[in-house]
Amino acid sequence: MASEISVALTMLVLVMHALTGAEATGQVQNLTAVNVEDAPGDVLVTWLPPEAPDSPVQFYRVSYELFDMAQCSYIVELTRVVAGEMVTETSYTIGGLLPYSGYQVIVEASTSTGLQEEAIVSVFIPEAVPTDPPRGVRNLGSSSSTILAFTWDDIECSIGARSSAFRGFYYELTSVDQPTNAPITKLVPHGPAWIYDLSSFHLYSFRVAIRSRAGDGPFSEPLEVRTKENTPTKPAAFQVSETTETSVTCSWEEPLQPNGVITNYTITLRPSDRPYDPSFTPPLSATVIRHLEPDIFMTKFDDLEPSSFYELSTTAWTSTGAGGIAILNTFTRPKSDIQGPSLPVVDPYTSNETSVTITLKDPDDHYVTSYLVAVESDAPRSKRSPVVIDGKAFRTYSDNPHAYIAAEIPKAENTSSVVVGDGQTYGDYLNAPLANGRQYRIWIGSKSAIDWRSSVSWSATLKVTAGDYEFPPTAPSSTPSKGHSAHQQWILGAAPWLFMLWLWLY
Ligand SMILES: *[C@@H]1O[C@H](CO)[C@@H](O)[C@H](O)[C@H]1NC(C)=O
Ligand SMILES: *[C@@H]1O[C@H](CO)[C@@H](O)[C@H](O)[C@H]1NC(C)=O
Ligand SMILES: *[C@@H]1O[C@H](CO)[C@@H](O)[C@H](O)[C@H]1NC(C)=O
Ligand SMILES: *[C@@H]1O[C@H](CO)[C@@H](O)[C@H](O)[C@H]1NC(C)=O
Repeated sequence: MASEISVALTMLVLVMHALTGAEATGQVQNLTAVNVEDAPGDVLVTWLPPEAPDSPVQFYRVSYELFDMAQCSYIVELTRVVAGEMVTETSYTIGGLLPYSGYQVIVEASTSTGLQEEAIVSVFIPEAVPTDPPRGVRNLGSSSSTILAFTWDDIECSIGARSSAFRGFYYELTSVDQPTNAPITKLVPHGPAWIYDLSSFHLYSFRVAIRSRAGDGPFSEPLEVRTKENTPTKPAAFQVSETTETSVTCSWEEPLQPNGVITNYTITLRPSDRPYDPSFTPPLSATVIRHLEPDIFMTKFDDLEPSSFYELSTTAWTSTGAGGIAILNTFTRPKSDIQGPSLPVVDPYTSNETSVTITLKDPDDHYVTSYLVAVESDAPRSKRSPVVIDGKAFRTYSDNPHAYIAAEIPKAENTSSVVVGDGQTYGDYLNAPLANGRQYRIWIGSKSAIDWRSSVSWSATLKVTAGDYEFPPTAPSSTPSKGHSAHQQWILGAAPWLFMLWLWLY
């Protein structure tokens, strides 16, 4: 019981001592500590001498204690550092204090009886730009060729990292392959950072810095990472460089976005149509497939059919697979050396004053798509400059009524005879009535056409005078011509008789 009272009394005495000791023990007066402008980490400490020291002050001792490091570590066991041991002035500048940290500054007057009671003031050091980069920067694997992921250590409580209020991590991803591309930058609170929409198989450089209220710290060492490969885009500039009657040569260039290392190109060919063969059914898949080395940009397909359409395709491969497909439709040139049709023969029974019925026979019609009937009269030539085909000047009847194409008849119509001068229109050509008694030269042409290209082979010249036909000694064979119905045959066959009747009536 007695000891408890004793302890209580001792404490009371200590408290009384602290309250009243200011004057009694020679504590310095009006102690201040302020940051020195333009000198980070310097603190100017000022004070007034004690009011009533027990004996004259000989010098002052200035010391300090760090109690709050970078606002992230509160120090319990304070360590006192003596900055000025024997200061005779009433001011002192402490240097080298840590930014964004709290200190206690202690000034004690020293007299002949020893150190007097200490005066204490707190000072807070301003922020400074961090001096350390983020640590532990590393690449996290990504399964996508357009995404990269990076992470780094959380911010640590160190002066290099926390010398200012932390705002976040500022990262920068730059393209090494295309340095002129603008970098991708972002402020994030912490790692990891996922960066999307990148180019495949592209080398990037990543670095990150601490951003604080006072500014950005230094960047981490650049970390170079290449995105994964992907399938390429379609080969560029896919085109036909040359065609002949039996071959097609095509060329291409590397895809605009290879997205990896091109390992090979696949080129295919598929027959898609044969205008001369209405029964042709195109195959559904390619008939020729070529795999070519990545440094080959041209290939020639031989042994093709003339006058035929082909579909070509090309695709590039990377280790990830085949990429986009470029498709091209092309055609071989028309067959040029086909034999023309046989010399037409006049059927005098079905011909009249304004029309001539002639046979159409073609022994070599495989690549033929249509037949042309060309007509030339001995009348004076037009002053219009004609278009020359195979050395002959032919256009439509209205362009030149003395040398014209009278008809174009598709091969698929299986026509075996043609009435020249029936006044009808065949394939944009007017088959104009002939002039009675005028001399005509007539040709049948076998045309092999594909797209905008065509070639024509002509028959020998048939010379005929409209309305003036040689009748063979016997009647024509009873086999009806394929070109007209039996009924038409009868009426046309009756024409000479009708003609005679007409002469008799007039
Ligand atoms: C010292 O502090 C006291 C009280 O805080 C004040 O009245 C006095 O003016 C100060 N003296 C000087 C010289 O600043
Ligand atoms: C083409 O390249 C791909 C990817 O490297 C590979 O899988 C394929 O076998 C290659 N084809 C040929 C014919 O070389
Ligand atoms: C022409 O002949 C072919 C083959 O004999 C046949 O398939 C086609 O239908 C015929 N065309 C006409 C218009 O008669
Ligand atoms: C001559 O034949 C053509 C074709 O069959 C016919 O269009 C025309 O009317 C005929 N002319 C005469 C005068 O019979």
